[in-house]
Amino acid sequence: MKIELSFNAGQFDELQLREKNIIVIDVLRASTTIAIALKNGAREIIPVASVESAVKISGSLFGEVTLRGGERNGKIIEGFNLGNSPLEYSETAVKGKSIIYCTTNGSVAMAKSRYARALIVGSFVNLTAAANFIRDDNKDFLFICAGRANTIGNFSLEDAVCAGMIIQNLLKTESLEVELSDSAKAAHAISKTFGRSIHKMLKTSEHGKYLIELGYEKDLKICSQVDSVPVLPILMGTVIKLKKEEAVIEHI
Ligand code: MLT
Repeated sequence: MKIELSFNAGQFDELQLREKNIIVIDVLRASTTIAIALKNGAREIIPVASVESAVKISGSLFGEVTLRGGERNGKIIEGFNLGNSPLEYSETAVKGKSIIYCTTNGSVAMAKSRYARALIVGSFVNLTAAANFIRDDNKDFLFICAGRANTIGNFSLEDAVCAGMIIQNLLKTESLEVELSDSAKAAHAISKTFGRSIHKMLKTSEHGKYLIELGYEKDLKICSQVDSVPVLPILMGTVIKLKKEEAVIEHI
């Protein structure tokens, strides 16, 4: 299996991602929030690339069973039901709901991956579930770290560390032949240094500091907890759901 990795999603369009096997990693906070929303019983997440698309898609569905969630500059979007804090996606708020989901980086990367062969969503909270899927699939994989559009470098330390830790998990399987691209090797190396204290790394990252300024410090703790939400969000058709057997376990 060859692992390629991009430190942001900016360079891709839908056609380039067609038929690829993709994991989108947006630790702060899209990937974490999606895992928590689905674990708390959300029916599905519909990732969109713009607020306009969110409004268009929700159309007459907006209301009872469909919610709009997401952020701009970390804050809830006007006219939306939910922002992007994982704390907002409680069972009471999301159970049985379809969530049209729009964020600055994470949902854009997911929306661009809609024609992928496989698209899964990874973060610290479901790290092992994501690694297990990639291992079992045993196909070439593209890791897309969501990054931060409109910043110099368009790079997120926390996404690179998470990617590197998933890679480390895969490398532990002796029977698996894993070839790493240069960027995948770099993420792996970065995770050795910054993965030692994930919460501290999040608190001192650029995006983490921004979220603390906005009053979302509690989110960082939630986003730092490895395997605390052991589910696998996966693209099915045009929506993201829990992998089948998990959906059955979670909702009986
Ligand atoms: C994003 O997609 O850029 C993030 O999830 C932003 C955020 O922290 O809400």
